[in-house]
Amino acid sequence: MRKMIIAGNWKMNKTPSEAAALASAIVEKNPSPECEVVLCVPFVDLFEAKKATEGSKIKVGAENIHWAESGAFTGEISGAMLKEIGVDYVIIGHSERRQYFGETDETVNARIKAALNSGIKVILCVGELEAEREDGKTEEVVSRQVKAALEGVSTEDMANIVIAYEPVWAIGTGKTATSQQAEEVCALIRDLVKGLYNETVADDLTVQYGGSMNAKNAAELLAMKDIDGGLIGGASLKPDDFTVIINAAK
Ligand code: 13P
Repeated sequence: MRKMIIAGNWKMNKTPSEAAALASAIVEKNPSPECEVVLCVPFVDLFEAKKATEGSKIKVGAENIHWAESGAFTGEISGAMLKEIGVDYVIIGHSERRQYFGETDETVNARIKAALNSGIKVILCVGELEAEREDGKTEEVVSRQVKAALEGVSTEDMANIVIAYEPVWAIGTGKTATSQQAEEVCALIRDLVKGLYNETVADDLTVQYGGSMNAKNAAELLAMKDIDGGLIGGASLKPDDFTVIINAAK
């Protein structure tokens, strides 16, 4: 069964005390969400987010993970560290990490395997740059990213993978993809996964859209056949707006 998942990506926002307040407000406004809700927060906010969501149905995610189990990797965080805190999900391959922190298709693949080995579910982000879309390369770019990311991931492990289509030109710009544009690429991703695995895996896969999703446009995007949720940046920091999006995902 395909799951609807609404995930907030807080990015580099909120100190631990602010995170406690924001997560509590979201929990309070969503006592029994009808879809899976995930708050992906900065590492230092994970404890507070876990505490605030305790006893609720809301899950907590991290925004990155290192591929090694442990060792001399100053400043990095391992899967075991995240698992012990009770982290359920991790965002991997976000375009901001690809753009600013040297993330490649290979490191994305390595991080995915580390997360799966630690029992943490993955939200894999893919998406084209504006220039790539203008050059008609959207399909080529997204296909390359998906195939490389899933290299060596087993059919069974696909139950723990969510793919978020985030066109880079729509992130934080207020420029949302039209529901048709978003649907087209989400359907392409599902088709690709069908080719790489099988029809059941493709049917069960949650494919999210991300990029300026907000309280106003969420319902239309989420109504599309192949869009099974959202990865939300700016609007996930506003409890009222985030709640509207969660309610649109029934
Ligand atoms: P915005 O919703 O702020 O455009 O961010 C989207 C995003 O990058 C989520 O990962």
